[in-house]
Amino acid sequence: MLVPLHEILNEAKKEGYAVGSFNLHCMEMLPSFIEAAEEQHSPISIQISHGTANYIGLDLIKAMVETLAAKSNVKVALHLDHNSDVNFIKKAVQAGFTSVMIDGSDLPLEENIAVTKEVVDFARPYNVSVEAEVGAIGGTEDGVSLKEDVDFTKPNDAAYFYEQTKVDALAISIGSSHGQYRSKSKLNFAVLQEISERVEIPLVLHGGTGVSYDDIQELIHYGIAKINIGTELNVRYIEEGKKTFSESPLENSLRKVLIPCNNRVKNIVKEKIEHFSKAPLYK
Ligand code: 13P
Repeated sequence: MLVPLHEILNEAKKEGYAVGSFNLHCMEMLPSFIEAAEEQHSPISIQISHGTANYIGLDLIKAMVETLAAKSNVKVALHLDHNSDVNFIKKAVQAGFTSVMIDGSDLPLEENIAVTKEVVDFARPYNVSVEAEVGAIGGTEDGVSLKEDVDFTKPNDAAYFYEQTKVDALAISIGSSHGQYRSKSKLNFAVLQEISERVEIPLVLHGGTGVSYDDIQELIHYGIAKINIGTELNVRYIEEGKKTFSESPLENSLRKVLIPCNNRVKNIVKEKIEHFSKAPLYK
């Protein structure tokens, strides 16, 4: 069933696991995501970038996800990933997304607070969850590291931001970056611990592709309840597709070249969920 993101994140935080939030890059991937969650008996968040939302359309995405979620025995959240366009976010809320992210992290803190509050006020009557971001996560191809003193989330900022906005989930910067599929991030757990002692809501880790499985238990212990995975799904889909497309005769059914790509993604989602849901070491 389709549920607001905060419902599954609050359960995850209480029980000591993290929900995987997986970027949908094309329509073909969607059934694989839901099947993977079902086979792992796990809730799942399906997240949509602005680019994917424009490519498929908000209404079609909502209809597809809702149709599959209604038949499913797992909880599914439909989340708008990073967005700084408040009008677009409002359209996603009205289209039936169950969660949105307002990313004002490029703005000075007070402006980030103001724009986030506007989204929270709009989303609440629809029972739609709001995720926001404090600190800069950024993007990288090869593990180009962030500047700790500039980019990492300052615990005081995170605490003040939460007090002011009362968002449902907060994305923080502790060393992960988007798009890192060739190396692993070095995370700063001391910063995470300080934030988690002062901010009671589920925390979100972006750049999950570059996060080592060895770090997952500690992340969960210190309050990370949502881990975003995007690049790995895109990269492995293309990798598989390059093989199947190049080996396929032209008269072959298109299904035969796409199904292996969908299966590859399904296995990755299953593996991630397994790591995110293992019993925590620290409990
Ligand atoms: P990756 O693409 O690095 O996995 O990060 C995804 C993400 O954080 C989307 O918000």
